[in-house]
Amino acid sequence: MEKWMTIAELQEGRRRCKGGVGFVPTMGFLHEGHLSLIKKAVKENDHVIVSIFVNPTQFGPSEDLEKYPKDIERDMRLCRAEGAAAVFLPSAEEIYPSGYQTFIEVTELTRHLCGLSRPTHFRGVCTVVAKLFHLVQPDKAYFGLKDYQQFKVLQRMVHDLHFPVETVPCPIVREADGLAMSSRNKYLSTAGRREALILKKALDDVRDALEKGERSGHALQTIMQETVASSPSARLDYARVAHGETLEDLEGEIEAEGTLFALAVFIENTRLIDNMVWSHD
Ligand code: PAJ
Repeated sequence: MEKWMTIAELQEGRRRCKGGVGFVPTMGFLHEGHLSLIKKAVKENDHVIVSIFVNPTQFGPSEDLEKYPKDIERDMRLCRAEGAAAVFLPSAEEIYPSGYQTFIEVTELTRHLCGLSRPTHFRGVCTVVAKLFHLVQPDKAYFGLKDYQQFKVLQRMVHDLHFPVETVPCPIVREADGLAMSSRNKYLSTAGRREALILKKALDDVRDALEKGERSGHALQTIMQETVASSPSARLDYARVAHGETLEDLEGEIEAEGTLFALAVFIENTRLIDNMVWSHD
């Protein structure tokens, strides 16, 4: 497996990749969620390139950029074991040299959900992913549905800017007890780790209510809020019932295929997200 630290190394290595190229962008500290993307990419492409870059422009001023967990040696071992062809590990100066001032914005889909509490987040995500797409020139790029809004925003960007890239959605990978895997789970204490199950419980409560016939968007949103409120230390950022394509709130009767139930909750200052897409059977 090759290790590319600079844009020049990436471009030289990329020219040597003949056939289909799959790309998995990450911020590292890899877990089974990331590995599921790499596994799928390895099955579907001749070469898989993984990037590991903790992208400063997608963190807000009081967020965890400085303490974001890192274990590059372990990440490299995992990528090699999964059969990646190369890992791209650029420095922040390589991606954002001094004088940098160009950003990509998706205007509507980012007005909802995480975009409300993280107003500059998706601008940073879109900018770095657009730059990485230009550099890596993948045929397919793999994203997890744990970050459902991120997937939709990037899908929109790819469409709007005519990137010749297929964006492939991948299912949420969970711990045995249901907690969605996340690099940020590492911040939790033992007690916090237990409290974190409240996110999945809120989604399970919604599923139960749907199975009993509840169809009011407002009532289903209230169920999620009440479940989170039942936990002594969880602090709700948002719990929303939204249209799965436009991400707009659904307050009334839900009937569309692919309704999204999404929430963000602070547990001990760590912001966790989870979601479920419900479709009628
Ligand atoms: P990161 O949080 O490292 O996630 C990298 C990819 O792994 C994303 O597509 C994310 O949705 C996916 N992923 C994370 N946890 C997952 C889980 N439990 N199940 C399935 N997929 C999961 O998302 C980012 O990095 C960044 O925003 C990035 C796209 C790399 C741009 O900087």
